[in-house]
Amino acid sequence: MAEKSFKYVILGGGVSAGYAAREFAKQGVKPGELAIISKEAVAPYERPALSKAYLFPEGTARLPGFHVCVGSGGERLLPEWYKEKGIELILSTEIVRADIASKTLLSATGLIFKYQILVIATGSTVLRLTDFGVEGADAKNIFYLREIDDADKLVEAIKAKKNGKAVVVGGGYIGLELSAALKINNIDVSMVYPEPWCMPRLFTADIAAFYEGYYANKGIKIIKGTVAVGFTTNADGEVKEVKLKDGRTLEADIVVVGVGGRPLISLFKGQVAENKGGIETDDFFKTSADDVYAVGDVATFPMKLYREMRRVEHVDHARKSAEQAVKTIMATEGGKTVTGYDYLPYFYSRAFDLSWQFYGDNVGDTVLFGDNDLASATHKFGTYWIKDGKVVGVFLESGTPEENKAIAKVARVQPSVESLDVLKNEGLSFASKI
Ligand code: FDA
Ligand code: NAD
Repeated sequence: MAEKSFKYVILGGGVSAGYAAREFAKQGVKPGELAIISKEAVAPYERPALSKAYLFPEGTARLPGFHVCVGSGGERLLPEWYKEKGIELILSTEIVRADIASKTLLSATGLIFKYQILVIATGSTVLRLTDFGVEGADAKNIFYLREIDDADKLVEAIKAKKNGKAVVVGGGYIGLELSAALKINNIDVSMVYPEPWCMPRLFTADIAAFYEGYYANKGIKIIKGTVAVGFTTNADGEVKEVKLKDGRTLEADIVVVGVGGRPLISLFKGQVAENKGGIETDDFFKTSADDVYAVGDVATFPMKLYREMRRVEHVDHARKSAEQAVKTIMATEGGKTVTGYDYLPYFYSRAFDLSWQFYGDNVGDTVLFGDNDLASATHKFGTYWIKDGKVVGVFLESGTPEENKAIAKVARVQPSVESLDVLKNEGLSFASKI
């Protein structure tokens, strides 16, 4: 069997892998020392583009336009960059077995890869309705979105079903971003989700009411408090109808499902410590196994700010955790140390002409501020989260770069507040003073 050996292997070719490669290069990795093994066919790219400009009819994003690290304003790492640096990109290669004891990875086609140091960057996979045994969920034109191949299939369907009908199952990130993208493509969109409001993991009822109203004004139908329990098909096996638990039926040419993800850690079951569904790491992203690091979506790491182990499924952490792990690897070799990861959670989303950012923790009491009137020309509004008399989280829609910087600072500093009324009255100016 063919065997290849590297000093460092990054398993996975997504966001973390790309940012890790850039950091390895910065730190002087030598040609031939580093390989990235990915089941995707393309070099690491900024995954968030897939649910946004990749699907737009105009101003469409296509590779090589959004290879890492353009998402954070950095240099775009084209396949040639990896060649120049002597970093081997081993693409279209799925690893199906990992043996930490012998430091070996085995691919689906029987290739063997040896490493001295492994960085696990396998990210997440989508939850599928077939996993829950939903009747007819294997019909044609039912789509999920994780990788560029998924996005390409969806783009083809949008073209084939011009002016058709779509049902979006799920009211989270994928649900909201994909409903907007489909609508922009002139598709008739209905959203279905079980909760009383969208994005319940982050949004308060007040925040959600604004987005639901905005989407309704765009002509998107929102059906809450129920789930898809079955699909019917036409003679070609294409989805035709979505059956809901509440007895209703919706016509559909396209169904997009975004009902959550699951970190891809099964290759390492029983070989590394797990925590909260992910691979447990310290604040340098070292796992319980020697010479094995885990970064991005798969890592459950100490969130210093909240003295708690957490897993984060967002791009900013994928980038920063990758850099932290590589800095640690290289510093350790040079007999140096680095400071531990001290992460401030940062999530964002964009849809239509809306754009929000959130920093910190969404726990405790909440105070809504600003102008969330759907009839207003601008939609600058936000929410503070207050716990034990301190502001611990801030959400802001339509913030300027300076205002977003200000809310990030508030979430980091956690200023005390005398009363919730102060926040209500001062609104965004409270953040600008910190
Ligand atoms: P990522 O998923 O990027 O990469 C994992 C890689 O590992 C993939 O290339 C995969 O093929 C590969 N892999 C897995 N198993 C393998 C195996 N056995 N063998 C070989 N290769 C394997 N976040 C945010 O903050 N803002 C946003 O707007 C968005 N938008 C967004 C849109 C869409 C469509 C998705 C799916 C996700 C987002 N996110 C986001 C989340 C963000 O993209 C995500 O948190 C990061 O991509 C995580 O980076 P990782 O490197 O951990 O995984
Ligand atoms: P999510 O967890 O954000 O939302 C899933 C939604 O589906 C929830 O509202 C959930 O209650 C609902 N749901 C669960 N079961 C359902 C069912 N049977 N029928 C209908 N609805 C159901 O997950 P997602 O939107 O699928 O996103 C997947 C991953 O991609 C996540 O890791 C997310 O962080 C990432 N992502 C992030 C962004 C961003 O940060 N802007 C954008 C896109 C994707």
